[in-house]
Amino acid sequence: METDSRSPIGIFDSGVGGLTVYRALHDRLPNERFIYLGDTARVPYGTKSLATVERYAIENSQFLASRGIKMLVVACNTASALALPKIREKIGIDVVGVIGPGGRKAVDLTRGRDPAKIGVIATEATISSNAYVEAIRRASNSAEVFQSACPLFVPLAEEGWTDEPETRSIAARYLAGIKEFSPDALVLGCTHYPILRDVIQQTVGEGVMLVDSGEATADEVARILSDRGLADLDARPGRRALCDDLDHFYVTDAAERFARVAERFLGTQPSKLEAIELTGRRLTLLGQVT
Ligand code: DGL
Repeated sequence: METDSRSPIGIFDSGVGGLTVYRALHDRLPNERFIYLGDTARVPYGTKSLATVERYAIENSQFLASRGIKMLVVACNTASALALPKIREKIGIDVVGVIGPGGRKAVDLTRGRDPAKIGVIATEATISSNAYVEAIRRASNSAEVFQSACPLFVPLAEEGWTDEPETRSIAARYLAGIKEFSPDALVLGCTHYPILRDVIQQTVGEGVMLVDSGEATADEVARILSDRGLADLDARPGRRALCDDLDHFYVTDAAERFARVAERFLGTQPSKLEAIELTGRRLTLLGQVT
């Protein structure tokens, strides 16, 4: 499909967590339109195998490519860690994942420390892929890296338990190793973790710089669009609201729940939200929810 600077940017995630990346992109690129796909029927990806995550990621990417997007952002850290090369092989547009930008940002922020110490927290699949360690190594051969999986952070963020005693005690347990490592910077390597930013910061200590991979990705997307002459420069009156009807949201299941959690994450619900079924490249509309 022909695309140009006025075409939307595609974003996919395993579910609702990628809305933190949508928000970062929306803040950084207020003129752009977005199409978001949350694969809520098959979430979580963080506990699944390489072959399965690759298959899901390719189906999601092909669906978005068929909607005429000019660029694809893989908001899901797990899919970025495991499936980026396969996605790039299958679709003929620019693809940006969150791991490279997050890793590079951590290295940039810790330049001058000798040695720089970088912590990474993410899903089990992202941690065992070593994708962040490799991204950090590509940007610095001297940085020391320590990683830890924090799987329970995902449901806690979705429940909105951002300040509960249970969340604090789980954070203390998960982050004990990171604290002992005493990093200069800590990468929030999962879409959901920015929602728990305050509790994570308080647990590891105020001196640790937190790196939001979604924000780092938004900066890289802005740069790539401008380098390629693909930024949408058409002035739109005023600053667009998050989730207005220029942005289109798709989910593969449980649209009402997605809308509820979106309200929790963004303070608003998508104006345009549709439930779809992904069967290979075929799309069946299940109905418009809002
Ligand atoms: N979106 C996933 C990630 O960023 C977290 C949720 C999941 O396990 O699917 O890794």
